This record gives sequence, structure tokens and C-alpha cells, in this order.
Amino acid sequence: MKRTHYCGSLRKENTGQKVVLEGWVNRRRDLGGLIFIDLRDREGLVQVVVDPDSPAYAAADAARGEYVLRVSGIVRERPAEQINEQLASGEIEVVAESLEILNEAETPPFAIDASWRGEEDPAERVSEDLRLKYRYLDLRRRGMLDRLRLRHRVIKAIWDFLHAEGFIQVETPFLTRSTPEGARDFLVPSRLEPGKFYALPQSPQLFKQMLMVAGVDRYFQIARCFRDEDLRADRQPDFTQLDMEMSFVDQEDIWELNERLVAHVFKEALGVELPLPFPRLPYSEAMERYGADKPDTRFGLELRPADELFASSGFNAFKSVLESGGVVRGLLAPASLSRKQLAALEETAKRHGAKGLAWVKIGPDGLSGPLAKFLEEAALRGWGAVDGQTALFVADRWNVALEALGQVRLALADMLNVERSGWNFLWVVDFPLLEWDSDQELWTYMHHPFTSPYEEDIPLLDSDPGKVRARAYDLVLNGSEVGGGSIRIHRIELQKKMFQVLGIPAEEAEEKFGFFLEALRYGAPPHGGIAWGLDRFLALMSDAGSIRDVIPFPKTQSGRDPLTNAPAPVSEEQLAELHLKIVE
Ligand code: AMO
Ligand code: AMP
Repeated sequence: MKRTHYCGSLRKENTGQKVVLEGWVNRRRDLGGLIFIDLRDREGLVQVVVDPDSPAYAAADAARGEYVLRVSGIVRERPAEQINEQLASGEIEVVAESLEILNEAETPPFAIDASWRGEEDPAERVSEDLRLKYRYLDLRRRGMLDRLRLRHRVIKAIWDFLHAEGFIQVETPFLTRSTPEGARDFLVPSRLEPGKFYALPQSPQLFKQMLMVAGVDRYFQIARCFRDEDLRADRQPDFTQLDMEMSFVDQEDIWELNERLVAHVFKEALGVELPLPFPRLPYSEAMERYGADKPDTRFGLELRPADELFASSGFNAFKSVLESGGVVRGLLAPASLSRKQLAALEETAKRHGAKGLAWVKIGPDGLSGPLAKFLEEAALRGWGAVDGQTALFVADRWNVALEALGQVRLALADMLNVERSGWNFLWVVDFPLLEWDSDQELWTYMHHPFTSPYEEDIPLLDSDPGKVRARAYDLVLNGSEVGGGSIRIHRIELQKKMFQVLGIPAEEAEEKFGFFLEALRYGAPPHGGIAWGLDRFLALMSDAGSIRDVIPFPKTQSGRDPLTNAPAPVSEEQLAELHLKIVE
């Protein structure tokens, strides 16, 4: 007896057929004589009816939730009054002729059945630790299985599209040397060379660039990346990128191809048509208008300069910031905010680096609030404020003021329940190549050290490094950075110059990246690429609360896997083989 159909695939058209089904008991009801079993497999449920006279009865009587059964029987139409509109197979049922228990099951630690009946899923409310400990049961739930299948459809669509565009899929190694992407490396000790370590790749960056030197021309990989960094809702230590690289291209070519790829993926996986091209926003404009390098532009509440408003005011806190080269930026809240709301927003501003959040309200009776005595009503109206609004201001260094106010903007949108729907893709372009690290007192790269500056900005590398624009871009979806890439440096002299500007001594560059610098000497073509954060992409596509919901076996926020209990201690023998000692 072999399975003939998936439970969830049976329809009215199958009426009269003899079928063999294999699956799990979603629910079993004993209606004083007749036993009804909702049998489930990955395609859905079907109702199995077992008559008291049936040879299947004894086994059906013994079956319980999540038992594994094999059932053979005849498909019949349900009487009109018993049709279940909620169920795809709700017009029919299977009258059991034989029923075999293939395996028993303990009662699961959380319910699985409700999700398959389209009812509110109680497992959504159990602790994530418990769900992860029993991930194989968690993945039995319909919503989770749907996400696994979405992931499959998206990766299939990516393969189809890139294959048709002439891309070659290449695997790059996990056991390798450090590839800097700004995080800590995960290290693997070598047994054969005591005291030496492999690093797991933070990305395939240097390998894909060397593939361009090799003449592959168009490369892609669904690539696992490993980064030992502090985890957040949208970060995992072990995550997946769609990684791509192309030779003889400019930024436009990469944007255009990726837009078509995103559109193809949305069409294939969700049936959604995206309008192309995506807007392109220079970094400086994204920061000035939204206070973010990954702006959510689905709503307004844009930031605006307020330097002039305060230049001649008596508010010394702001005047001194302006005098020392800082800026004042403001945001008009379209409501008269309460003290409590203002306190919450000030808290947000401070958490993101601001010294405070100054405010003033405007109404028919004029100005009120801490700034009222320092501002002219006419000046504030001239700046754009109207009755019933609260103006919020931060004074600080340019990026601190904008980033803090950008976070206030997001918090305000939450507070005011601002409508945010749809698929809002955009490119943030023209990032600065470098940013000043005031702790270490040196310039660091914003993307990675292999990113090319604009040709015409190269002279600024010596005179004004902060002004150099990178040929780097991020892909943003609904306020999340879902991808990032750049045109690379392909000439050795510029790459060496870049290391010099970054304060990396020539010997250190040679020691760390000598193999790569050497590759650049052998006719490296101009090239560039991008990597998508595939998990973030999928989390947004499936409206998941965190990227953990789209990763089959993820780690918790503290980097643990409750299923396998990794990380775990190892034996003395293993340590000795690796020439390692644990220092308490
Ligand atoms: P980047 O470091 O920007 O670029 O990474 C690309 C994208 O990967 C996602 N991402 C993550 N997702 C989950 N967990 C993490 N810890 C995590 N870190 C990053 C983000 C990000 O946009 N080699 C370059 C790409 C290139 O230049 O071609 C790179 O890795 O969505
Ligand atoms: P103070 O005069 O220092 O009591 O500040 C008055 C208001 O201005 C308080 O609400 C502070 O939070 C706010 N404030 C002070 N400095 C700044 C700043 N640099 N940016 C934004 N708000 C500030």
C-alpha cells in the first residue's frame, strides 16, 4: 500500500476513488460510534470517517493527536449540511476501509492543530525558547511551513532569473581567512597546524572578487555568512545572503538588474507586481529628510533644517552647538503632544545619542513650552509650523542630530498610528567612503575597504577624506536595509592607497590580504556587486516578527540554539588534539 494522494490535495473531483493517505492526526473526535479524524500532511487536512463496523475502527479508536497513520478508503461527497467552507477539502471526506498506526506521539508542548484549522494559533503566544527547543514541531505549524515554502519559492525564482541572465553559481569556502565586514570573526582552530585558525567568512567578498579576476564575469551564490556580533531582531550570527558580482559594469547596471530580479521574485513568490525603477536617494538627502540611511518613505513627517531659526535666538544650548560647527534639525508633529508623549520621544532621542529633545507648541494663543520664550511666533510660522502642532528640535553634530531625530520620527509615526503599508523599495546611493572614528581617531570604511570612490573624488582622499563619495549603495525595503554593495577597487595602487588612508600599515595589509592584492596584479577587470540579506528580505515578505521566523533552525538573541544546545563544551581529548586550553 503506497500513498496515492496528499491529504490536503483531495477535492470533489476525487469522489468515488480509492485512496491511500499517510499523515498526522490533527484532531480526532468520537461522536458516540462514528470516529472523525482530521488527517494532516503538508498540503492540508482531510476528514476521515470511521464507521463502528469498519475493520479500521479499533486502530482509529486508539489513535490520538499527532499519531502517524496510514489510511485507505473511498472518497465521498459530504451531505450539503456538512460541507466545511473553511477547508479546501471540505466538500468531501474519506470513508476508512483500513487504518494503520505507523507511530505514536507524545502530546506536543504546544498545539499544532489550530493553525491548520485557520483558527488563532496558540503557539504564537508560547515562549520562543520552547518553540526553538521543539523546532521540528514548531515547523509543523502551518504558518511556519508556509514560510519554509516561501523561502524555497524565492530561492527558486532567484536561480531561474540569474541563470537566464547568464550568471554562474559558485560555492566559496567556509574554512578560510578573515573577510572583514565590520563584525568579529568566528574562528575554527586547526588540528594539523597547531596555533593556527581558519575564520568563517563574514561574506564571500574576496572570493567573488577573485572570481571576477578569474573571468567568471557573472557570479552568484546563496551564501551562508558568519558574523560574531551583538544580535538584534534582524541579525543572526549565521545568516544567508544572495551574493552577486559582475564584471565590466557600472552602478546603473547593477541597480537595473537587481530591480528586475526583485520584481521577478515578488511576482513569482507573492504574485505582486512592483513598479520599476525604484527611487534613488543620495545618502545625504536620505539623512536630511528622514534621519536614516535606510529611510521608511511610506510616510512624510520629514525633518527640516532649523539652524537659522536658532542662530539669533537666545537659546544658548543650541547657539553653542551652532557656533562649534553643529546643526539644529527639527520635525513638526501634526498634533499637540502630551507631556507623556514628549517624555517618551525625548527618551528615544537620548537613546540614540542626542542630548535632549527641545520642543515648542503653537496654537491660536501663541507659543508654549520650554522654547517659547526663545522663539518668535512669526519666525516659527515662517519655518512652517501651524496651529495645533508641536515642533521638536535636536542640536548636535550633523549625523547625531539627524539620526536621533530620525528615530524620533519613527517613534512619532508609531505613536500617531501613521498608516504604513505596501512594498516600498528604494536605493540609497552615494554613501561617504569613510567615516571618522572618534574613539580610534582614524578614518574607517563605511561599507568595506574594497569599495571604490568616485573617480573625481580620488584627489580628496588626501585633502578631505570625509567628502569622498563611494560608489556604494544599499537596497532598502520599508525602512530596512535588505541589501548592500558597491563598485570595487580593481587597481592595486588605489587599493593600497585605501589601506593607507584607513591607517592600515603596508605590512599588515600584505599579511592579511596579500593573496588578494596579488590577484589584483593579474589583470583584474572593473567589477562590482551586491549582497541581499535574504533572511531580512523573507521576514519582510512574510510579515514575520523577526528573521528567526524565516530561518529553519535559528539561534536565540543570545546566540544559543535551544534545540541542540549549541554552543556546548567539548571533551579534553578534542581540546588536546587542537592544542587548546580553556582559561577560566
Ligand atoms: P553587508 O555587510 O552590507 O555587505 O551585508 C549584506 C546584507 O546582509 C544582511 N545582513 C545580515 N542579515 C542577518 N544577520 C546579520 N548578522 C546580517 N548582517 C548583514 C543585510 C545587509 O544589507 N560583501 C558585502 C556585499 C557586497 O559589497 O557585495 C556585504 O556583505 O541585509
Ligand atoms: P535646558 O535649557 O538644558 O534645561 O534644556 C531645555 C530643553 O532643551 C530640554 O527639554 C532639553 O531636553 C533640550 N535640549 C538641551 N540640549 C539639547 C540639544 N542639544 N538638542 C536637543 N534638545 C536639547
